[in-house]
Amino acid sequence: MANTIVIFGASGDLTSRKLIPALYRLFQKNRLPEGSLIVGVSRSNFEHQQWRDSLRTSVEEFANDCFDNETWARFADTLYYLPGDIKNADDFESLAEFLDTIEPEHHSGRLYYLSTMPQLYEEAIKQLGAAGLNNDETGFRRVIIEKPFGTDLKSARALNASIHGVFREDQIYRIDHYLGKETVQNIFALRFANLIFEPIWNRRYVDHVQITVAEEVVIGRRAGYYDTAGILRDMFQNHLLQLMMITAMEPPARYDAAMVRDEKVKVLHSIRRMTGGDFASDTVRGQYKGYLKEEGVPANSDTETYAVLKLYCDNWRWKGVPFYLRSGKGMSCRTTQIVVQFKNVPHILFGEKTREPVGNRLVMQVQPAEGIQLHFETKVPDSEMKTRTSTLDFSFSNTPGGKSLPDSYQRLLLDALTGDASLFARSDEVELAWGIIDPILAAWRSPAAPPLYEYETGLWGPPESTQWMYKQDREWFDVC
Ligand code: BG6
Repeated sequence: MANTIVIFGASGDLTSRKLIPALYRLFQKNRLPEGSLIVGVSRSNFEHQQWRDSLRTSVEEFANDCFDNETWARFADTLYYLPGDIKNADDFESLAEFLDTIEPEHHSGRLYYLSTMPQLYEEAIKQLGAAGLNNDETGFRRVIIEKPFGTDLKSARALNASIHGVFREDQIYRIDHYLGKETVQNIFALRFANLIFEPIWNRRYVDHVQITVAEEVVIGRRAGYYDTAGILRDMFQNHLLQLMMITAMEPPARYDAAMVRDEKVKVLHSIRRMTGGDFASDTVRGQYKGYLKEEGVPANSDTETYAVLKLYCDNWRWKGVPFYLRSGKGMSCRTTQIVVQFKNVPHILFGEKTREPVGNRLVMQVQPAEGIQLHFETKVPDSEMKTRTSTLDFSFSNTPGGKSLPDSYQRLLLDALTGDASLFARSDEVELAWGIIDPILAAWRSPAAPPLYEYETGLWGPPESTQWMYKQDREWFDVC
């Protein structure tokens, strides 16, 4: 059944770089329900055709591997534009009328995508409700909300409360684009479609887990947002905690939105909240050299561009196993990886004459070298019993369909259209995540904050972070 996707913030960057190219790709693959319409709303005064023309340029650029004129012509026919101000109730009335005129009878549903400034989310939701656009008697009405979802627990709770005044929880899709990544979904497959990992996926065999999201880029022109957010809000409350939840969760009884999210939420409940001396001993903060010179950054800013958190899950599976979460801008390369470091063998037979084996290690490469590597010891040929580390290497790019993995937004838009919320954050999940991050934010802004280390761009963050790991008899797995 055909649907309408209404994008608020239609003249913004996300719409032209991500949403429309993703919708174009879905359209080309015949994945969008036949007869689907896309309506853009923003304050700019475009005609339908002007909006289509500007989007053509973006699709040519961001979906250039599959752009063709014939598909574009058919896709462009589904695009409409309506000037509208989120603060203006009349504009929502006009939108309601407009949708009624373009949608044929028996149209099945509407998906509203809030791709506006986050300060406008509450207002947009309120206006949708006031104009009756939430009424789902004749077809589904769902809303996708972009990140950031609040700036702390209090604001996230307030936002949830306002949204729940207009939409039921099952109509709300909070995006974390990391969950749309194929390789993140592949962690579910690796863990729950195989028998061999589960028996060792616990405190008896795992020494620690490292979750790294390193970015080569610096903040560029995003100072206005970034300097007030900092890396904990920008990356940890959402993406890194999501990766941790999927790595640490119990197998759900069924792969559906309720059960998957129930299990993820249990992980958040089990994460030990930091208190007292933990902020100094279990966190590292950094800022790249040159950050203070970025356009728009106050000269005395102490905003973090690098952070490490050492978190524990206090439950039967993970008690005592540290999860090191690390992210930084201005790092050596762009890489997202989850490393499960297993313990060493209990009794070393071959190491004494050579070197100790390093312990098995499973590396899940989320991006850009999407794949999985298992490191294990093998005998050095023609030696006494010397061993060395070898690697079993799986790469998505060597598998059928794995050369160019679909962008997150394709998957997430499709799931929201079909009503599958498994890869979206639930209200309790978002609030619990803030509950973990808020005390750290507060401690870092207090007089007792741990030092903010400077670091050179192009390396692996502050050298103090490397030392900090050594002190725990561990080392970062820094591989690009
Ligand atoms: C966004 C952050 O959510 O994720 C950015 O706001 C960050 O600061 C980006 O660069 C990283 O996403 P990806 O998909 O490029 O790893």
